Amino acid sequence: MLSMNLSGKTALVAGSTQGIGFASAQALAALGANCVLIARNEDALKQAVAKLDAAQGQQHSYLVADFANPQQVQDVVAAYVQQNTIHILVNNTGGPAAGAIVDAKPENFLQAFQQHLICNHILATLAIEGMKAAGYGRIVNVISTSVKIPLKGLGVSNTIRGAVASWAKTMANELAPFGITVNNVLPGATATARLENIITNKSGKMGVAIDEVEKEMLEEIPAKRFGKPEEIAAMVAFLASPAAGYVNGTSIPVDGGRTGSI
Ligand SMILES: NC(=O)c1ccc[n+]([C@@H]2O[C@H](COP(=O)([O-])OP(=O)(O)OC[C@H]3O[C@@H](n4cnc5c(N)ncnc54)[C@H](OP(=O)(O)O)[C@@H]3O)[C@@H](O)[C@H]2O)c1
Repeated sequence: MLSMNLSGKTALVAGSTQGIGFASAQALAALGANCVLIARNEDALKQAVAKLDAAQGQQHSYLVADFANPQQVQDVVAAYVQQNTIHILVNNTGGPAAGAIVDAKPENFLQAFQQHLICNHILATLAIEGMKAAGYGRIVNVISTSVKIPLKGLGVSNTIRGAVASWAKTMANELAPFGITVNNVLPGATATARLENIITNKSGKMGVAIDEVEKEMLEEIPAKRFGKPEEIAAMVAFLASPAAGYVNGTSIPVDGGRTGSI
């Protein structure tokens, strides 16, 4: 049986004060990893760190950075990697605002590109040297099922997710010889603050009750329920583990069967 044990490994988990990122940190910590959380809200980061499993002596910490400001991300994480090795990188941040693509402004695409692709690239390039030296690296990107089939009303998001998936596949090919894998987890509709916002916005725009919007969304999901953040996190944790060493360059939906492609 290949190991899921992450003791002695350090995971930098982005966008990790709540939702999928926080659940991912919880799952990685439970497998023994030391977690470094990174997001904007320092109070929320402190609270999140305090909730992580430390029963095996795991050491958890946090870094503060706004992914809307890639230079800040670069500075904060460059200082961290001078003294520390990141073995596992979970690329994750807040999703772009919902809306039809025809209504999107050029700056909306640029901002989402910076926050998602550029920040992923900065974090990966900062982590790679340490991963190579350790002979172990796992980069897991939380993207969206829109990588497979674009989602209605998420124009900017659909566009940027495709770029991130292509970036990840290219990275996977280049890094595989060093024992580093790069994979994408594609959450379906998952019960987090992000999903609540999307549902509330849709309800407001369409003038339909929130229950109705939810019902319509659930009809498209064979499992007939929204995902739980920990169900997405379980896939992140597996991909981060030694057991997933031969899984590379993939995009894996965790969506209750919603994505209509084989
Ligand atoms: N939930 C879903 O149904 C679903 C489905 C498909 C894809 N996704 C994608 O999965 C990712 C995570 O989603 P989620 O539902 O877990 O989101 P969420 O509940 O909104 O959490 C987002 C996390 O990212 C951090 N964050 C947001 N903006 C940031 C910024 N500018 N700089 C640094 N950190 C930032 C937030 O912390 P701070 O506020 O402290 O910075 C928070 O910890 C998003 O890209 C989302 O679009 C979600």
